[in-house]
Amino acid sequence: MLDKIEHTKQVFITELQKVVTLQDLEQVRIKFLARSGEIAVLFEGMKTAAISEKPALGKALNELRQCTQAQFDEKKSSLEQTAKPKEVPFDLTLPGRPKPIGTKHPVVQVMEEMKRIFISMGFSVETGPDIESDYYNFGALNFAPDHPARDMQDTIFIADKILLRTHTSPVQIRVMEKQQPPVRAIMPGWAYRNEATSARSLVAFHQIEGLYVDHGVTFSELKGTLVAFAKQFYGSSIKYRFRPSFFPFTEPSAEMDITCFICGGKGCRVCKHSGWLEVLGSGMVHPHVFQAVGYDPEKYSGYAFGMGIERTAMLRYNIDDIRILYENDVRFLKQF
Ligand code: PHE
Repeated sequence: MLDKIEHTKQVFITELQKVVTLQDLEQVRIKFLARSGEIAVLFEGMKTAAISEKPALGKALNELRQCTQAQFDEKKSSLEQTAKPKEVPFDLTLPGRPKPIGTKHPVVQVMEEMKRIFISMGFSVETGPDIESDYYNFGALNFAPDHPARDMQDTIFIADKILLRTHTSPVQIRVMEKQQPPVRAIMPGWAYRNEATSARSLVAFHQIEGLYVDHGVTFSELKGTLVAFAKQFYGSSIKYRFRPSFFPFTEPSAEMDITCFICGGKGCRVCKHSGWLEVLGSGMVHPHVFQAVGYDPEKYSGYAFGMGIERTAMLRYNIDDIRILYENDVRFLKQF
């Protein structure tokens, strides 16, 4: 009988060692410690033992019960500890997580630089809506009713005679409608054209418009202002030329070219081997435009100009595909 008690103790110990979960532990409890478990059965067996053996047996059985119960309790509390989620203490001495700081988009940088130059020349900054009516985008700007730019092919229409502005020139009309000359403003913003996206053109892009109206404004003032701008923006050593052009809202009209600073005028891929880069469109405000806003063309004259920002950013940073500006690739953007 004493051997049996010792044997039960050994089996209990090995089985307890194998316990991993609280469910395993419950199996051990049922097998040994429960009301009809092995230990209870051993106590039962004492009844039939010889009187002389009983004291020794009782002592051994009580020891067995105490020691198994104690080991069981210990295991149980250690399992319950590990089952509880551990509290993670704050380590207040750890350094914070660094947040990478972004850079200004190259288009924004170019726009800010252009604004800075014109503001220093006394221009104010005005804006207008991206969604325009046919009247502001075309009619008031002296586009003939059958002008091809009014075609669906070139313009993104939203509804009948409501469209996404194809240039920032409609803001000229809005500015002149709300104030009398003198007007000296630049008007930056988005413009939209229904064109196929390519390495050189986007459906949505930015322009900066300029307008100066007062008594006796001349074409040489237009040239003087734009040359002063180009020298500040592109560098004082650039060469430039004005070429006659056509816009319905200016007469005469001119486009300004600067020497290609990639090849220095020798001819390369960027300047299409001409040595020149076209940087803006400009001209003297057409009398019909003044009439549309209620200015007297006999009393006032003025000049206007417009340039594309993305194109300028391409030239400035030597980017050969305009689309990369809007791919939001951080590896590209963080270079600026
Ligand atoms: N709006 C013209 C364009 O988008 C540019 C321009 C502006 C030309 C002002 C003359 C005067 O091409």
